[in-house]
Amino acid sequence: MFNAVEISKDIYWVGVIEWNERYIHGFSMPEGSTNNAYIIKDEKTVLVDTCVDGYSDELIARISDVVEISSIDYIISNHSEKDHAGALGKILELAPNATIVTSDPKGLRILQRYYGEDLRFHPVKTGDELDIGKRTLSFVLTPMVHWPDNMVTYSKHDKILFSNDAFGQFFATSKRFDDEVDDRRLFEYAKKYFANIILPYTRQTAKALDTLDGIGIDLIAPSHGVVWRSHVSRIMDLYRTWCDNEPTDSAVVIYSTIYGSTARMATAITEAFMKCNVAVRLYDLDISDISDIMVDCMDAKYIAIGSPTHNATVLPPMGQFLAYFKGLAPKNRIGIPFGSYGWAQSAQNEIASVFSEKGYSMPLDNCVCDWNEDGADAQSLYDAIIEMIEDNG
Ligand code: FEO
Repeated sequence: MFNAVEISKDIYWVGVIEWNERYIHGFSMPEGSTNNAYIIKDEKTVLVDTCVDGYSDELIARISDVVEISSIDYIISNHSEKDHAGALGKILELAPNATIVTSDPKGLRILQRYYGEDLRFHPVKTGDELDIGKRTLSFVLTPMVHWPDNMVTYSKHDKILFSNDAFGQFFATSKRFDDEVDDRRLFEYAKKYFANIILPYTRQTAKALDTLDGIGIDLIAPSHGVVWRSHVSRIMDLYRTWCDNEPTDSAVVIYSTIYGSTARMATAITEAFMKCNVAVRLYDLDISDISDIMVDCMDAKYIAIGSPTHNATVLPPMGQFLAYFKGLAPKNRIGIPFGSYGWAQSAQNEIASVFSEKGYSMPLDNCVCDWNEDGADAQSLYDAIIEMIEDNG
C-alpha cells in the first residue's frame, strides 16, 4: 500500500507524508509536511535519513516496497534531529547489520546519546567518501544548517545532493518533484521555511553554498517537501540572495492591543509607510500566524512592534511573538517599538531591549502614548514616522 517512488535510476523516495500535522516548534504548516528518506540500491544498500518515530511504520512499508530492510548496509544520518533520526532505532532493529554514517564529531555524539555507543558507527568529515559499488558517496559537513551536526551527502554518479534540511519546504503533497506542484506555493513554502528555520544561520548557509558551488547538481533531494529537478539553479540562487540578508524597501507592523489604543498607533504607522510608498504589512497578533509574519520580517527594512503595557510587561501574544522573533530576527534592521501605557512604559522598553539585543537602530525613541490614544497622538506618530522614513530613505 505504501509505495516507493523512483527519483533517479535505483534511487527511491521512501519518506512519510504528514498530511495532518500542523505545527512544529511554532512553525505553522497549513498543508502538513513530509519527512523524506531515500534508498540507494547499489552493491551496497543505503538508506538516507529516517523520519519521526511516530511515522516509522509508513517508512518501513515504503522501504520494504523496494528492498528487504534487513539488507540495508548503511544508514546515512545527515542530521540527528528527531524528524530525521527518530525512527533510526526501529530501523536498526530490522537492519541489525547496518552501519550508521554520521558527522564527526557532532552527529556521532548526539546519536550515541539517543541510541547508545554500542552501535556500528562510521563517522565522517567533509571530503570523506564511501564506496558503495558503482557509486562513491561524498560528504560535506554543513554545521548550523540547521544544527551543529548537519551534513549533506552527494552522489557524483547521479549528480544528486541529499541536502537534508537545506532547500526544504513544509507541505504535504502527493507529488514528489518541484515541477509537479504549483510554482507559487512551492516558492512561498521554500521562503517560509528559510525564514523560520535557516534565517539565524545565514553565514553558515552561505559558507555551505560556497562549498557546494560547481560540484554539478541535477537533483536536490531534501528531507522535507519535494525534490528539486527543474528549479535547482533558481532555489540555489534564492538561497544565496536570502543569505545576503539585504532588506527590501518595506516595513512590517506587528501589534497586540486591549482596548484599541495600540491598534490605532499601529494603523498610523502603517499609513505613514503607505504615504511614503514603502510596502508595508500590518499584523494583529490575535489573528495572525507568527511564522507567516517572519517571512515579512525577513524582507523588511523597518520592523515596528507594539504592545500596551499590561502587568508591567507585554501582552501574552506579544510575549510569545518576541520569544519567537528573538531567535530568528534578521540582522541590521530599523526597529520601531511602540504602544500605549497607563503609568509605566514597561512593554515598550521590553520591545526596545529586544531590538537593542539584535543591534537594530531605533531612530525614534519614544513612540508611546499614555492612557487613551486620541487623534492627536496618532497624528504625531504618523508625522514622526514620515520624518524618520525621509531621513532613512
Ligand atoms: Fe528537519 Fe533540523 O530537522
